[in-house]
Amino acid sequence: MPAITLTSNDFNQQLIQSQTIIEQRMAEILSGQIQHNQLEDALRYGALAGGKRLRPFLMFASAQLFNQDISNVLETAAALEFIHCSSLIHDDLPAMDDDDLRRGQPTCHIQFDEATAILVGDAFLSLAFEVMSQDTSLTVEKRLKLIHQLTVASGRYGMIGGQMDDIEGEKKSLNLEQIILLQQKKTGALFEYACEAGAIIGNAGANQQQALKQYAKHFGLAFQITDDILDVTGSEAEVGKRLNKDQEAGKETFISLMGLEEAKIYAQKTINQAKQALEIFGDRANILCDLIDMLNNRKS
Ligand code: IPE
Ligand code: IPE
Ligand code: MG
Ligand code: MG
Ligand code: MG
Repeated sequence: MPAITLTSNDFNQQLIQSQTIIEQRMAEILSGQIQHNQLEDALRYGALAGGKRLRPFLMFASAQLFNQDISNVLETAAALEFIHCSSLIHDDLPAMDDDDLRRGQPTCHIQFDEATAILVGDAFLSLAFEVMSQDTSLTVEKRLKLIHQLTVASGRYGMIGGQMDDIEGEKKSLNLEQIILLQQKKTGALFEYACEAGAIIGNAGANQQQALKQYAKHFGLAFQITDDILDVTGSEAEVGKRLNKDQEAGKETFISLMGLEEAKIYAQKTINQAKQALEIFGDRANILCDLIDMLNNRKS
């Protein structure tokens, strides 16, 4: 695979470049199967119709801290994004959040049907590990470690566990500590994995791995607080509906627990902590600092 690096010094350009690189690779992987049937169409729909591609960007930026070319992390980044897509498709199903819109378009089960959406989510999970197991640019030892860590981050100890906690949380009232733990599993675990994978592939030292882990932890938390703030203040058409859903479901959010103004202060504090964690990398971590600033200023 030819060397690929993020070349522009402009953060927004780098983000767009990174989105293009990951989407091209995901499209390539999905076109490997030439059959045109409902499953293949729905896989492409579920993976390629929009998305900020934050997790691949985090992985690329983390790997670049250790002078790794993007081509070394591309397969792992695609696998992680497939798992993220799987989680969203299942999250939108009637048995879960019952949402009709995702990324401004009909959700997978609306565009196709429920059975297809369930199977697409399952197929993405298997595809992720298929892609990683075949990544011959990495040693077998690294591949195995990356695969193992992704099973942990995406499964019962991580994202899936957090999704279950989220559903069960509708029936009980949670305090701030419990909400933070839930979010760390539900959304934080995949962000943490993105940084961890960059560090593993880059042969990071223990203190560098630890610094990135701290950054990712705070990144995930800031992401979720911002998400809750946007549910209240954002301009997306479905926002009002989502807020009502969270309220109807009796879900605690950072806003319900601390109020809008306190939540904004907490988000800023978390962002500062994320940046502090990166101090050992100096200017080379600017891109990760810019990403968290963008997160704080995002409108969707
Ligand atoms: C949305 O994640 C779902 C959560 C994990 C809270 P993103 O905001 O990263 O979704 P896309 O991929 O950009 O649509
Ligand atoms: C989705 O969380 C988290 C995962 C899919 C793991 P939410 O249900 O809060 O996210 P949105 O609001 O549907 O994007
Ligand atoms: Mg949900
Ligand atoms: Mg949802
Ligand atoms: Mg939400």
